Amino acid sequence: MPKDANTAADKKKLFIKTWGCQMNVYDSRRMADILRPFGYAVSEEPEDADMMILNTCHIREKATDKVFSELGRMRRLKDKKEAEGGTMIMAVAGCVAQAEGEYIMERAPYVDLVFGPQTYHELPEMLAKLTGAYGTERIVSTELDTENKFDSLPEESNDQGVTAFLSVQEGCDKFCTFCVVPYTRGGEYSRTVQQIVDEAKALIDSGAREITLLGQNVNAFHGEGYDGKSWNLPKIIEELAKLNDLDRIRYTTSHPRDMEMSLIEAHRDIDKLMPYLHLPVQSGSNKILKAMNRKHERDMYFKIIEDLRKARPDIALSGDFIVGFPGESDQDFEDTMDLVRQVKYASAYSFKYSPRPGTPAANMANLVREDVKTERLAALQGLINEHQLEFNKNCIGKTLPVLFDRTDKKGDKLHGRTPYNQAIHVTASERLMGHSANVVIDGAFANSLTGDLELQESILKSA
Ligand code: SAH
Ligand code: SF4
Ligand code: F3S
Repeated sequence: MPKDANTAADKKKLFIKTWGCQMNVYDSRRMADILRPFGYAVSEEPEDADMMILNTCHIREKATDKVFSELGRMRRLKDKKEAEGGTMIMAVAGCVAQAEGEYIMERAPYVDLVFGPQTYHELPEMLAKLTGAYGTERIVSTELDTENKFDSLPEESNDQGVTAFLSVQEGCDKFCTFCVVPYTRGGEYSRTVQQIVDEAKALIDSGAREITLLGQNVNAFHGEGYDGKSWNLPKIIEELAKLNDLDRIRYTTSHPRDMEMSLIEAHRDIDKLMPYLHLPVQSGSNKILKAMNRKHERDMYFKIIEDLRKARPDIALSGDFIVGFPGESDQDFEDTMDLVRQVKYASAYSFKYSPRPGTPAANMANLVREDVKTERLAALQGLINEHQLEFNKNCIGKTLPVLFDRTDKKGDKLHGRTPYNQAIHVTASERLMGHSANVVIDGAFANSLTGDLELQESILKSA
C-alpha cells in the first residue's frame, strides 16, 4: 500500500464550476483556499465529488438559464452518489445565488446551500451545520458585508502561476440602469493597502510576474493606506511597482467617471503599468448614455482617450458595448458605430441588451426588436473585429517584450502575452517560462500573434 494512501482516502473531493467575470474566478480560488484546511481538494471532474459549488453570474439572461440546466445535470451525479450510500453537498454561489437565492431553493430542492459573493468566508460554519444534518438542513446566506469577508479570508494559496489576479475593490455604487452588479455585489468597498501588498508579495514569492488588480470599479479604489489616509489606484500601483520581481501590473474594470488624471499619468510614468486599458463606454449616443445612467457623455469619453494617448501613445484600448438598449434608434446605434470608428479598439466586447429583473431599465418602454438587436450586434462586432485584426497586423515587424506564462498544448511552443495583452505563441524553451523575452512579431490573427525570439534569447533557447 502506498505510504500516502490514507491521506488520499481522507481527502474530500471539491468540484467548482465558475461562470462570469474575473472576480468570480478569483472568488472560486478563494473558496478552495478556505475549504483546503477542512480536507477538501479541488478536482477537475464533478463525478463522485463530496462537494460541488456552482459559482454563478447574473449579468445576462442566458447565464441564469445555464445555471439551472447545469444544476439538472449535476443532480444526476448527486442522486447516483446517494444511491450508492454517499453524500454530495450541492451549493450555488455567486451573483445568481445573491439575486435569486430563495427561488433556487424553491425550484431546486436538491440544492443544500446557497451563498452570495460576500459570505463565502463563512463556508466552514455553513458546512459544519450541513454535514451534521445532511439532507435535512438547507442554508441560504446572502448578506452583503464585504469588509467582514476580506477580513476573514485565509492567506492566498499562492498557486496562480506567472499571471495572477488580485482583488482590490468590490461592488459598485454607480447603478447603471441595466446592471445587476450593485445588487449582487453590494456597494463599493476597497481593501487596505497592507492587505493588497501582502497578497501581492505572496503571489510573487510563488512565481507571479504579472498581477492584474481586480474590481468591478477598480479605478474607484480608495483603500486605507499605510498612513491611515485613503489611497487611490495610481498610488497603490506605484507602491506595487516597487516590488522586485514583479514585472507587469494591469487593472480591470474601470469606469470613465473615475478615470482621474493621476491614473492617466501613471500610464506615462510607471513602466511596469502595461499599455492596455479596458474602459467600457456601453454606447456612443448621449441620449442612451443618459438613459443608462452612465453619468457621462461621449465627449468626456473622447477626452479621456485623448489624454490617455497623449500620456501613452501606444496604449491598446478595450471596451464593452450594449446594443438594443430600450429606446435605441438607428441614429443612436450609428453614434455607437461612429465612436468605435474614432477610438479604434484593440479589442472589445459587445452584448445584446438583456433586461434584468429588479433593474430600472427592465421597466423601460420602447423595447428594441430582437431581430434589430441581432443585426446591430453583427454590424458592431464586424467593425470591432476589423479593428482588432488591424491592431494585431500593425504589430508585425515590431519587437515586443513577451511574458511567457504557460506551455502551449501543441508541441514546443510557449504561450505568452505582449504588453498590449495580445496572446502570442512562440517556439521557445520551457526555461523561459515566467520570464520576459523580446519577440519579433511575424504573424497576426484575429485573436493572437506569432513571432520568433530575438537572436539573444535564441541562445537561451538552444542551451
Ligand atoms: N463594471 C463594469 C462592467 C460590469 S458587467 C463596467 O462598469 O463597465 C460587464 C459588461 O456586461 C458591461 O460592461 C456591459 O457591457 C455588460 N452588461 C451588463 N449588464 C448587461 C445587460 N443587462 N444586458 C447586456 N449586457 C450587459
Ligand atoms: Fe454595472 Fe455600471 Fe456598476 Fe459597471 S458601473 S458594475 S455597468 S452598475
Ligand atoms: Fe457576473 Fe457577478 Fe461578475 S453578475 S459579471 S459574476 S460581478
